[in-house]
Amino acid sequence: MGSPSAPKHLTLLLFFFLAVPWTDAESPAGYRVVSTSGSRGHLSARLELAGNGVKEDLGPDIQRLSLTARQATSNCDKHTGLETDSRLHVRITDAEHRRWEVPQDIIPRAAPQHISLAASAPRSRILSAATSDLTFTLHSSPFRFTVSRRSTGDVLFDSSPTLVFKDKYLELTTSLPGDERSWLYGLGEHTKRTFRLQRGDTFTLWNSDIAASNVDLNLYGSHPFYLDVRSGSGGAAASHGVLLLNSNGMDVEYGGEYLTYRVIGGVLDLYFFSGPAPLDVVDQYTQLIGRPAPMPYWSFGAYIDPFGFHQCRYGYKDVADLEGVVAGYANARIPLEVMWTDIDYMDAFKDFTLDPVNFPAGPLRRFVDQLHRNGQKYVVILDPGINVNSTYGSFVRGMQQDVFLKRNGSNYQGKVWPGDVYFPDFLNPRAAEYWAGEISLFRRTIPVDGLWIDMNEISNFIDPAPLNALDDPPYRINNSGVRRPINNKTVPASAVHYGGVAEYDAHNMYGFLEARATYNALLKDTGRRPFVLSRSTFVGSGRFTAHWTGDNFATWDDLRYSINTMLSFGLFGIPMVGADICGFGGNTTEELCSRWIQLGAFYPFSRDHSAIGTVRRELYLWGSVTQAARKALGLRYRLLPYLYTLMYEAHATGAPIARPLFFSFPDDAATYAVDRQFLLGRGVLVSPVLDPGATTVDAYFPAGRWFSLYDYSLASSSGSGHRVTLPAPADTVNVHVAGGCVVPMQRPGVTTSQSRQTAFHLLVALREDGTAEGDLFLDDGEAPEMGGARGRWALVKFSAATDRARGVTVRSRVVHNSYGPSRSLVVGKVVVLGMPPAAAPSREIAVYVNGVRVKNNSTSGGGRHGFRQSGGLGVARVAGLAL
Ligand code: NOJ
Repeated sequence: MGSPSAPKHLTLLLFFFLAVPWTDAESPAGYRVVSTSGSRGHLSARLELAGNGVKEDLGPDIQRLSLTARQATSNCDKHTGLETDSRLHVRITDAEHRRWEVPQDIIPRAAPQHISLAASAPRSRILSAATSDLTFTLHSSPFRFTVSRRSTGDVLFDSSPTLVFKDKYLELTTSLPGDERSWLYGLGEHTKRTFRLQRGDTFTLWNSDIAASNVDLNLYGSHPFYLDVRSGSGGAAASHGVLLLNSNGMDVEYGGEYLTYRVIGGVLDLYFFSGPAPLDVVDQYTQLIGRPAPMPYWSFGAYIDPFGFHQCRYGYKDVADLEGVVAGYANARIPLEVMWTDIDYMDAFKDFTLDPVNFPAGPLRRFVDQLHRNGQKYVVILDPGINVNSTYGSFVRGMQQDVFLKRNGSNYQGKVWPGDVYFPDFLNPRAAEYWAGEISLFRRTIPVDGLWIDMNEISNFIDPAPLNALDDPPYRINNSGVRRPINNKTVPASAVHYGGVAEYDAHNMYGFLEARATYNALLKDTGRRPFVLSRSTFVGSGRFTAHWTGDNFATWDDLRYSINTMLSFGLFGIPMVGADICGFGGNTTEELCSRWIQLGAFYPFSRDHSAIGTVRRELYLWGSVTQAARKALGLRYRLLPYLYTLMYEAHATGAPIARPLFFSFPDDAATYAVDRQFLLGRGVLVSPVLDPGATTVDAYFPAGRWFSLYDYSLASSSGSGHRVTLPAPADTVNVHVAGGCVVPMQRPGVTTSQSRQTAFHLLVALREDGTAEGDLFLDDGEAPEMGGARGRWALVKFSAATDRARGVTVRSRVVHNSYGPSRSLVVGKVVVLGMPPAAAPSREIAVYVNGVRVKNNSTSGGGRHGFRQSGGLGVARVAGLAL
């Protein structure tokens, strides 16, 4: 009938791609299963090379491999830390020789198990614990495996039979649904034009000192983790995560319908996280790699009224220059929270020294003491390279303790700012002790509050000549856009760490190791919660450090791309992240700087930093920038209790502080591509201006109600998501709160310590159905622990409900309080947004604390403040109410 052949062909083709992407036919490459064994929650297999091997130029294939797949089958497994219900672990390695893998003390996890000798004949086998939504299926000839979601039958990972496993080259491909059914995020660190990974991109992971203004090149950190959001039929979405726990260099090619890992060493250690909500995935992921470190309250940059801020610059000339900047902020009545100093403070760029002319100990110490008297903080930079110089104490002690990285039996000598340097080998426990000793000594002279560790990829100003195949392995990854030896601008891969570990294997972990050593050093020396900012990161670095996005440029593109990197680091378990506000390199402009502070005010880590020789960009220098900063940072300041509560949530569950919209609206596929806006927590939506000359913003509002955080007006109320063009005049950044959120806020005009004794404000934004929820976390802001069994902290849960007859009821429940006197937990005012116009005549707001009604003097809105009736506003004054 008609011409049936074309459609039939199409149907078959589609079926081929979607349902059986890899055939079970004999394949010249890859492996076959020769035996299998299994017990509850555990499946093992022996694999043998099939055929004659492939890609001979990359070295001989490893003949025999072992595979284990594991998942928890009982609570006992979970408690022993073996695996969890929501996690499936698949590991493939050489069956006969031990290979390098990420050490247990970096990512603590279940130790590899030996394969039982009583193995059965090869056959396809399924691992599917009753409690897990993930099913592992082993296919025997040729070998391949699939991971599926039991509840939907969706195939999440479908390895191709073309597995390649050589000493210095591993290749594994999975098919993906492609089209609009699978949205991938993660695989960093790269500056990307979109937050979503784009098909056709190759993501190279090899830590490098390459300016962040370069799009799609391997930058400072390595995070071989992706989040896959699958939109299902009928709108319901399910997300999962995949980690390849491997520290070696790699290219990850994303082709839309497939993803291929090409790795130059280690083992294939894959973890699958079942989600299904994006927040579940990061929770499950950070359960494995470690929860983000709590950051001190002051690092959120708002210690002082009306707001605080981090100010930095490479190129401050001397102490007087620093004093001038602090005074500039004070005169402009833009109090500064944290003053930073770059390498300029050092004597000839040597760590732990002071420039005797421009930053002498006496004046610098007086400057820092004054900062501390003002309630301000001071952070300085450290680079890993220690100058080779026998008159330099830190060098001499390092030599005595023999802590430096070696090559060919001697200390490896590189070149960075101070000239010739040796690098502490942080895999050596003695190096961490040495580092802690140097930090402690330095803090006796200059009691810095936090440390900024830079150049730790490790950056090297020379390209060491390759010695062997470690420096120039057979497979050349796309290192900074060129397939070349992996040595360029770093220490040689043939360098040797403590225990004989090759730099080739440990390279990507250096920043992690330095961050851990620095965190522990500060903790030991101060007894307080450390603040560390690291440029280089690896899987799990969030346990110790914050991150900034490196050397961006003062361009509108880099302003925009900073959102992509910030959101990616949220996925990587490093929620305290931000970009150099106003741009690091190049000369910024007044308009760009204004718009950048409006976005940067809502980076979790909010710092202005710039390169030497560029125009100065302190916020007080331009009138319009100051004005924009006052307004945006003023709102950040008011939101601090909310932001800090998000820090607690991040520490407790891995939830990013800054999140893509789909984290709160996973079933709204229109949010998947939104990367010009983001959420703080569950429901504070930031919609910045990202284009020159723009005075409006085209903002996407997911379904529900959205209220402006400036004037409480209702910006959107709809049963489905839609775009709204919002006015965005020069001094305004649009920030909205979703109906359903209770946001704890801080009154302007108080310091951090005072804010614990003065009243919080509660902003209650009601959903259509008149309900809302939210939390408030409190502690002293600098105790090493945040929450936990021994910590002193409080957690209060708020909820609101509306009753047509009685009006709105707001309840608070203290779910934990080991923090301190109850007077330190006070709410003074409750503002309700979206009160129903036809509620009880008084439109009363009733406030209950732990079940007991408290007296309040309720005033209702509507027209009172000129707010639109549809966004009815109610204010309850409950001064002195102790929670
Ligand atoms: C590179 C860092 O990325 C940058 O922030 C810093 O200013 C310079 N090094 C100088 O220390």
